[in-house]
Amino acid sequence: MCIFWPPRLVLAMLVPILVTSEYEYLGWKDLGDSYGKSPQCMDIPEDLRLCYTVGYHRMLLPNLLEHETMAEVKQQAGSWVPLVHKRCHSGTQVFLCSLFAPVCLDRPIYPCRKLCESVRDSCTPIMEAFGFPWPEMLNCSKFPQDDLCISTNTTDMPPSPDDSPACPPCENEMSPEVILEHMCASEFAIKTKIKEAKIENLDKKLILQKRRKTVSGNLNKEELKKLVLYLKNGADCPCQQLENLGNTYLIMGRKAGKRYLLTGIHKWDKSSKEVKKALKKLKSHKCPVYETVFK
Ligand SMILES: *[C@@H]1O[C@H](CO)[C@@H](O)[C@H](O)[C@H]1NC(C)=O
Ligand SMILES: *[C@@H]1O[C@H](CO)[C@@H](O)[C@H](O)[C@H]1NC(C)=O
Repeated sequence: MCIFWPPRLVLAMLVPILVTSEYEYLGWKDLGDSYGKSPQCMDIPEDLRLCYTVGYHRMLLPNLLEHETMAEVKQQAGSWVPLVHKRCHSGTQVFLCSLFAPVCLDRPIYPCRKLCESVRDSCTPIMEAFGFPWPEMLNCSKFPQDDLCISTNTTDMPPSPDDSPACPPCENEMSPEVILEHMCASEFAIKTKIKEAKIENLDKKLILQKRRKTVSGNLNKEELKKLVLYLKNGADCPCQQLENLGNTYLIMGRKAGKRYLLTGIHKWDKSSKEVKKALKKLKSHKCPVYETVFK
């Protein structure tokens, strides 16, 4: 049995289902014991950006990922906001929020395995472009196939070959927020020019100019000197920024295995107010912790 979105339908369908459900009724008291804290129904706060716009207003805490405080939920959920913005699947937000901010009902309702698999298949390429695997925490085989579960009523069509989207790190909305999000998914940022971009297997390889200036992050001198970046699976996707290599760029990256991946690239000329604004904001900005989420 799947529950479809939007939530008005969910509630209409749930009430009869819960009353007549043949499945063992798992009261919150039982769950509460295993959590050590009995679940509460709370308003979804505005700064829980991932789920504030999901379509319902109340959520259970602890959630289905065993986050016990709202502060923890916000911190962990923050890492996923960029993924929702990338629009890899129309059900990403519903899927993630069914776990991070579960609908307030008297038993936990998990996302359907089909929804999980569909989001996973659409979004894994984007996550991999940033060097993150699909996390074990979201292993779809954990989620129910036949039991009551949450789904969306849209079938995502694979994108048609002629509207190929830009490589994810090249998507370049020039807003300080987007630049910050890219920064947060990165381990370092530098200012430099690019000498050459060439295709290597499925990737694009970026050879940088000798002059490189660290903007933020953890590269030591030796690493900075040797730095070569890869745009993962970037052989075929368009990257507008690389069409004219005369520019100076803000380049972001992170280490994945033995290589450095390009995670963001923004043109940086004298008129780039957005880059300056983003860098200023970065000083006081608290990035969500990808490492703890994407495990
Ligand atoms: C997901 O979990 C199942 C069962 O626990 C396991 O067999 C499988 O290898 C896991 N998949 C991944 C991708 O880790
Ligand atoms: C799902 O979509 C189909 C076709 O668009 C529609 O006929 C059906 O009523 C929808 N079901 C729900 C539960 O929204």
